[in-house]
Amino acid sequence: MTEFEALEKRISVRSYEKRLVDPKLLGELSDAVSEGNERYGLNLQLVSTGDPDKPAVKLSGAMFSGQVNAALLLVGPGDDLAAEMLGYWGESLVLRAVSLGLGTCWVAGTFDRDSVSPALREGDKLWGVIPLGYATEKVPLKQRTIRAAIRAKDRKLELFLESDRSASSLPAWVRAGVEAVKAGPSAVNQQPVNIVYRDGLVTARLWKENANILKFNDLGIAKYQFQVGAENAGVRGFWNFGDGGEFIVD
Ligand SMILES: Cc1cc2nc3c(=O)[nH]c(=O)nc-3n(C[C@H](O)[C@H](O)[C@H](O)COP(=O)(O)O)c2cc1C
Repeated sequence: MTEFEALEKRISVRSYEKRLVDPKLLGELSDAVSEGNERYGLNLQLVSTGDPDKPAVKLSGAMFSGQVNAALLLVGPGDDLAAEMLGYWGESLVLRAVSLGLGTCWVAGTFDRDSVSPALREGDKLWGVIPLGYATEKVPLKQRTIRAAIRAKDRKLELFLESDRSASSLPAWVRAGVEAVKAGPSAVNQQPVNIVYRDGLVTARLWKENANILKFNDLGIAKYQFQVGAENAGVRGFWNFGDGGEFIVD
């Protein structure tokens, strides 16, 4: 599965089988975790109990069913830049996990913080967790209803874009990037990131003033999603971090 196919397939999985994740897959993810930690000064931790009866993290029963034996603990410095980098690299790990056949969900709120024991450096905080497991084939009605209710707040594609050109006259790769942003996850589905396209320049900005404290995670996630969408449409590039940061075409 390509990274873009993983992006198209990804949803927040809230119903897991009680089945051990293949250790080989965790090994592949672990390399990517270390790479991101080194590059961005993060302290993400991949944990696995190796026991189907022992959950790696206790997820709230109000939102989730089943259990996972592996998870990614989202640990890093508490500032906005680290939050954005964590979103960016975390989303790359989510897509990698999906391409390996795993189900994932960004979880910042609805889990028991006392059920995990991350190693924290000075200044680190636990931003959240990403459960890693196998999605049940049949999604229970409750979890289907939760997702439908949250995503019902989706904005129209045009509302993700600020430009002097209409969405239909955008370069195809910019449009593909904006579509990928729309398809991505965001905390409480706030979708607080817009892509700005003016004078041939692409930037990303937080438009929602009252968005929650996770908006910088969302900014990093949106940037990663854009990059994968644009690349699938033939244009490679990388982002400058920061609110208003520019997408630099390679
Ligand atoms: C930073 C962040 C935190 C999130 N925290 C939670 C959470 O605590 N509980 C939960 O059920 N979903 C959580 N989500 C998942 C969002 O609700 C979900 O991404 C959004 O509703 C869009 O749905 P989708 O991911 O299925 O496309 C979080 C997502 C992000 C990006």
